[in-house]
Amino acid sequence: MRAIRIVTASLVAAALSVPLAWPGLATPQDGGQHAERGTLRAAAPRGLVIGSAAAGGGHHLDQPYPDPFTSDREYRRLLGSEFSSVSPENQMKWDFVHPERDRYEFGAADAIVAFAAERRQVVRGHTLLWHSQNPAWLEEGDFSAEELRSILREHVTTVVGRYRGRVQQWDVANEIFDDTGALRTQENIWLRELGPGIVADVFRWAHRADPRAQLFFNDYNVESVNAKSDAYFALITDLRAQRVPVHGFSVQAHLSTRYGFPADLRDNLQRFDDLGLATAVTELDVRMDLPESGVPTAEQLAQQADYYRRTLQACLDVEGCRSFTIWGFTDKYSWVPVFFEGEGSATVMREDFSRKPAYHALRRTLHEARRR
Ligand code: XIL
Repeated sequence: MRAIRIVTASLVAAALSVPLAWPGLATPQDGGQHAERGTLRAAAPRGLVIGSAAAGGGHHLDQPYPDPFTSDREYRRLLGSEFSSVSPENQMKWDFVHPERDRYEFGAADAIVAFAAERRQVVRGHTLLWHSQNPAWLEEGDFSAEELRSILREHVTTVVGRYRGRVQQWDVANEIFDDTGALRTQENIWLRELGPGIVADVFRWAHRADPRAQLFFNDYNVESVNAKSDAYFALITDLRAQRVPVHGFSVQAHLSTRYGFPADLRDNLQRFDDLGLATAVTELDVRMDLPESGVPTAEQLAQQADYYRRTLQACLDVEGCRSFTIWGFTDKYSWVPVFFEGEGSATVMREDFSRKPAYHALRRTLHEARRR
């Protein structure tokens, strides 16, 4: 009896503890033979990975260029040399990876995971439970609650299980609250059909499929202390009390110079850190209103650089913030002009891969933190 209780307690402790040092890699930031002097990954302090989305799928499918990740040599070179973490931009989402009920399509995701392994990069898996980019067979299907539950369970077990040991962090639940802090119980098929309890189940299934992966809640407009981030704080507190394996809270950080910088970002991350969670910045970009010429002014680029720097600094200032990812590194492939009318130039490199002030601000800030 006693032995069993001890085993149970240690399993619970293992489920809740945040595996900060990921056992899969010794020093992901040095990049081994792929490290280049003067890259972001080389500048980063020990224990912090610097990531980018790997472009493909989603909006790219409607653009007049071939798949960036597989076709653009210079793009691939920079993705491999500048970063120590990669996130599939679309290639692990439901509509991409599970196009028919009985068929999975893992080619693109496999290629990213293999690319990362060759370059000693870690991978952020994205995402398992979301209201967007779900296949029509699922959204328009006529399934009972019981069927939906088993479809979700099978998907999570299959996808997480396939990359077991090779994904450092999973965005398990994405954007489940709206800006008022209410659960998206209409838009989100899982919350609508199965109720809010499904969230805990998905974390449990994901943890079973890959006990080493850090499991996250991820959202936008949660950089500040506000109704939405408060809702996450309350939910995660509750789930942790129930021993649900939730390990992290991440802010996407799709910022715009139209709005002020979220000055309480560090304090907000810190309160989640204080709960014993890992934190992360997962999708940073800083869009701006483009002048008629399409070319940002020097002032605009300076303001953008300041937003990038401050976001990074907030993460550096929080002990458990060890993953910092930008949502693409070149304007050539950014989702911003497609989704935000009149805005653009949101990434750290121009279309020709020349570096903007934001790139240099990130590298300088990393370098200074490394020397401290
Ligand atoms: C975006 C991709 O960048 C696009 O290619 C796609 O067409 C739509 O989705 N929050 C998220 C990301 O969690 O998955 C989104 O990515 C951006 C907002």
